[in-house]
Amino acid sequence: MSQAIHPAPKGFAGPNTITKSRYEDDYSESVEHPEAFWARMAQRIDWMRFPTKIKDVSFREEDFRIRWFEDGELNVSVNCIDRHLEKHGDKTALLFEADDPDAPDESRHVSYHALHGMVCRLANALRGLGVGKGDRVTLYLPMIPEAAVAMLACARIGAVHSVVFGGFSPDALAGRIADCGSKLVITADEALRGGRRVPLKANVDEALKRPGTNCVETVLVVKRTGAPVPMQMPRDRWYETVVAGQPETCEPERMNAEDPLFILYTSGSTGKPKGVLHTTGGYITYASLTHECVFDLREDDVYWCTADVGWVTGHSYVVYGPLANAATTLMFEGVPNYPDTGRFWQVCDKHKVTIFYTAPTAIRALMREGDAPVRKHSRHSLRLLGTVGEPINPEAWEWYYKVVGDSRCPIVDTWWQTETGGILIAPLPQATPQKPGSAGEPFYGVRPALVDAEGRLLDGPADGNLVLLDSWPGQMRTVFGDHQRFIDTYFKTYPGMYFTGDGCRRDEDGYYWITGRVDDVINVSGHRLGTAEVESALVAHPKVAEAAVVGCPHEIKGQGIYAFVTLNAGEPATDDLRAELVGWVRKEIGPIASPDHLQWAPGLPKTRSGKIMRRILRKIAEDAPDQLGDTSTLADPGVVESLVRERLNRT
Ligand code: WTA
Repeated sequence: MSQAIHPAPKGFAGPNTITKSRYEDDYSESVEHPEAFWARMAQRIDWMRFPTKIKDVSFREEDFRIRWFEDGELNVSVNCIDRHLEKHGDKTALLFEADDPDAPDESRHVSYHALHGMVCRLANALRGLGVGKGDRVTLYLPMIPEAAVAMLACARIGAVHSVVFGGFSPDALAGRIADCGSKLVITADEALRGGRRVPLKANVDEALKRPGTNCVETVLVVKRTGAPVPMQMPRDRWYETVVAGQPETCEPERMNAEDPLFILYTSGSTGKPKGVLHTTGGYITYASLTHECVFDLREDDVYWCTADVGWVTGHSYVVYGPLANAATTLMFEGVPNYPDTGRFWQVCDKHKVTIFYTAPTAIRALMREGDAPVRKHSRHSLRLLGTVGEPINPEAWEWYYKVVGDSRCPIVDTWWQTETGGILIAPLPQATPQKPGSAGEPFYGVRPALVDAEGRLLDGPADGNLVLLDSWPGQMRTVFGDHQRFIDTYFKTYPGMYFTGDGCRRDEDGYYWITGRVDDVINVSGHRLGTAEVESALVAHPKVAEAAVVGCPHEIKGQGIYAFVTLNAGEPATDDLRAELVGWVRKEIGPIASPDHLQWAPGLPKTRSGKIMRRILRKIAEDAPDQLGDTSTLADPGVVESLVRERLNRT
């Protein structure tokens, strides 16, 4: 493990930068007197009714509840737009950089004033289409301003949005539409990414043929590329036509702090993706506070988070956190390597980006291209860098620090999850000297702890499973439609504690080092996938009898997908069939789920009760056949030998 420590460079601090002593004082107050602390923090939000009840939480099953600011009333879109109009009306809210750098007329600056008009017009249109408080709306959109507008328009009228990443397949989209019973879908004719077109509208058409999706009454279609797409009347309507002529103001819905704001589907160890539900008051308080503190936000910042709005990072740190803070937030439609691998830095120079927040997988991929594409651009405007989504290896951290940041920008390595709504563990750039590879210290109100397999709390420097002992306002409140699953998934493994699913080490300075998932979730390029989802896609193929999927180390993606597949008796195992199965998984879930390795398995290692021993498969996939451990409890130990012999991921 790297021993380097990087304090913030001299001259980094601004007038409001959080110092070490301020962090320590506020952190102590936040855990010793959470009610007083969060009542104070709630003042950053414009409430229609200020909450008098701050926190009401129990993680025990018998009286389980998580409630924050429960008698408060507010509207998130008002907090992200209206309240800024007087002082910041002309400030750029959304800075849109299109996929193609040579189509400058496609890039746009959307001021807070303009954003207000766009959101109100769409909100009025949605109301006119019969969408109201509590109704679900699915968004399947490219990274264009309309995606943020649609989220905020839902928030304005109290509709609950469910954003589905544009890279997901029609089947994955259909499952998510059906699960939450969406009344309306907003999509685009096509998305543009790295010069390639993604047929979003056609995917929606496919999805809406699947069972369970006839809840959808209306599909609004944004024109992005202008490609001809079939419109099915009266279901399909052009977005532009529907918003045209709508009034530029729209009465915001009064929302209770605990009313739902959005659902976002994420993968877990078992079963179908879960609809993670976030509510209104706690979420926006937490997203805006973390965004301001962790990124040391300043008035003139041009802030760029490269995440897609289809993931939680896009929700909290492209849209809600920055806009609640009246920041300028850049939305990038493209990819890091188009038209060349200097694109990120070209965009930084073009828009004078000051804060840049991306994923380790992108950093590793760009590092492989060498320093020249970075050095070609000045990057002088940058003052702070961030990472999120997966552990960052110290080599990539150092490259990011030295080459991208010219050793003048602190790096905040932010650990959090879809379920947590906002950042839970991260260095504050001035207060916490950074150790490459460590996410540093807990944010205000966050009480991380490490436990061993039996749930015993570990003291001091230790290695264990990461749990959280108390709630924070941004915590998810339930799994949409299945509250018991919420309790079973997160609060049963270690009763009375929230279990993150991550392994972690705490060092002698109290810094946390996340080591990765300890459950059956794999993290591919920062995207979460359940091994069970990939397995069920594989066994849905008519020639497949059985499949087991595990993660394996991957130089760029962090983790890759390694599938063991048993074919039906008599089915020849050919290279053509292998390619067909990889393509099948892409089609069933989406390109991010394509297996990197697919090994034919005449049999899978099982216990005598028929349970697949994944521990053994993981070691085979890691190319560590000498660490298989005890195989004597297997029903047929001979299977392992042949799997080891034929393994694919040799280093
Ligand atoms: C992993 C993304 C190490 C972790 C915001 C977590 C990280 C999962 C980090 C959540 C980090 C996220 N260091 N690991 N800085 N950030 N992770 O729900 O395993 O897409 O449990 O949320 O990503 O992924 P999710």
